[in-house]
Amino acid sequence: MILLDGKQTSSDIKDEIAIEVANMKAQGQKVPHLAAVIVGNDGASLTYVNAKVKACERIGFESTLVRLSEGITEEELLTKIDELNTNDEIDGFIVQLPLPKHIDEQKVIMAVHPDKDVDGFHPTNVGKMALNLPTFISATPFGILELLDRYNVETSGKHVVVIGRSHIVGSPMSILLSQKRKVGNATVTLTHSRTQNLKEITLQADIVIAALGIPEFLTADMVKEGVTVIDVGITRIEDASKKRGFRLVGDVAFEEVSKKSEFITPVPGGVGPMTIAMLLKNTLLARQRRA
Ligand code: GUN
Repeated sequence: MILLDGKQTSSDIKDEIAIEVANMKAQGQKVPHLAAVIVGNDGASLTYVNAKVKACERIGFESTLVRLSEGITEEELLTKIDELNTNDEIDGFIVQLPLPKHIDEQKVIMAVHPDKDVDGFHPTNVGKMALNLPTFISATPFGILELLDRYNVETSGKHVVVIGRSHIVGSPMSILLSQKRKVGNATVTLTHSRTQNLKEITLQADIVIAALGIPEFLTADMVKEGVTVIDVGITRIEDASKKRGFRLVGDVAFEEVSKKSEFITPVPGGVGPMTIAMLLKNTLLARQRRA
């Protein structure tokens, strides 16, 4: 079993970007500037956004954290987004999801200018991704492609089973891996909560991507010997014995599934850290496109 070490790989990518940023600085060029908008005080979301901003600082990017109160109106948020769209100092920005119930998430996603949409959530960018045209690929699927690439996991001709059809992970992942690209050319089955006989399908998979958000859903009896497993799930489970009062659990029963796996991602330290590295990569790309 080989661990797909997202923590190490993410650190390698950040080092590579830091070198590029140092070169840009040395040549008197502007460095990439990422802004992150967060609405409210959700603990997990704040942790993620702070990690993104901290990562910017470490590699020499400029960063701006925009904290807005839970009670902000949709109109006020859209105004803030418009300011970021027109602010020439900002190369790219994200609005951390989920948003409070009174705000229409789709409206917010559509308000971000596609050229600054480093999350790759705008329909224009999703459309380009689906057509295999140059664009911002969302951080999570992008990170999974990069992890598979750096560990030379063969995808061409392989059967990939994706569990979960979310717009952020399952759906784009299934599209990307079926495309003619370096990490791609796979035969993809996209499964979800209405899928019948799921186990019959996952047993045929060379690669399983678990992105449904149910802790330890994928068990050893569902996979074949020599499978590659990508665990996108990350659920906080209360655990008083832990310093922070919780532990993080993936969608894969790691203990038992790892015994049958050729490659597998841990949780934490697998896909999670990769998403930050790829967001930074997209921000670098945004700066280079604007230069
Ligand atoms: N919430 C969970 N994942 C993401 C992400 O990749 N981007 C944003 N903006 N919000 C998220």
